[in-house]
Amino acid sequence: MSVVPANIESESPAIGSPEHRHLLGRFFLDTHVEYVPERMPWPKLGEQELARLRRLPFWQEAVSTENVTSNTVAAAAELEDDPLVRKAIELQGFEEARHARLLVALTSHYRIAIEPPPPFAPRSLESDFLFAGFGECFDSFFAFGLFALARESGFFPPALVKVFEPVMQEEARHILFFVNWVQYRRAQLPWWRRPAFRLRCGWIILKQVASRVRTARSLGKPQPQGAGSSENFTLTAHQDLGAQVTLHRLLGLCLTENERRMAGYDARLRRPRLVPGIARLLLRLIPASV
Ligand SMILES: [Fe+2]
Ligand SMILES: [Fe+2]
Repeated sequence: MSVVPANIESESPAIGSPEHRHLLGRFFLDTHVEYVPERMPWPKLGEQELARLRRLPFWQEAVSTENVTSNTVAAAAELEDDPLVRKAIELQGFEEARHARLLVALTSHYRIAIEPPPPFAPRSLESDFLFAGFGECFDSFFAFGLFALARESGFFPPALVKVFEPVMQEEARHILFFVNWVQYRRAQLPWWRRPAFRLRCGWIILKQVASRVRTARSLGKPQPQGAGSSENFTLTAHQDLGAQVTLHRLLGLCLTENERRMAGYDARLRRPRLVPGIARLLLRLIPASV
């Protein structure tokens, strides 16, 4: 892992500088972890554990999301002329495809029915990459907390938690890479194009927030037959995991886990601030009983 020890003065390189580009690319390539989804040691589950796993409604959505993200990210490598950053984006595309493969391996091993998603071709390389990246900033943040909850509550047996641990850590790397890439990308633009880029990012973030607010508002309301809780499933999954948890506690857990997962990476990289900032604000606003 590319780590700058805490006792060494670490200064972040200027955004968009060759040092920043090198740091961005090297951090991502050097922290890649090898594993083969098709060779995972799937634990033997008891009848009850298996039934619980099969009842979770989000497998289809999870496979579809990873399919869209992997195709979007792989295509976005073309945006980059710099070989190191391009290689890092290609590697992220590979890792996203590996997440989809891992889900396919899990669902086929435990005989959970899913439809193979149709091939996805992004329409606009940059906008789709930005949309997927900002979406991951929200989804992964909630997934960190939910994963910790499932681990603590014993909903998933420890052996299954172990299989998915590298996926969670990879998502932390992805959002760390993405927030630094967005800043790097903006700095590469001529000054007069930067405001439009900022506006586009702001608009995409607003769309992602609006979609999650819609999901949050529908929580607790009766769902139409067959609707399930697939969209933004990381927001609704705590209900499916059967855990008795308040939103307050879940947000706190997401924040702690987010910090823990980011802590090991090079201190000179900019950390994600938007989603943890929203979570901190919500924690102050909502009572602990909610
Ligand atoms: Fe993923
Ligand atoms: Fe990812």
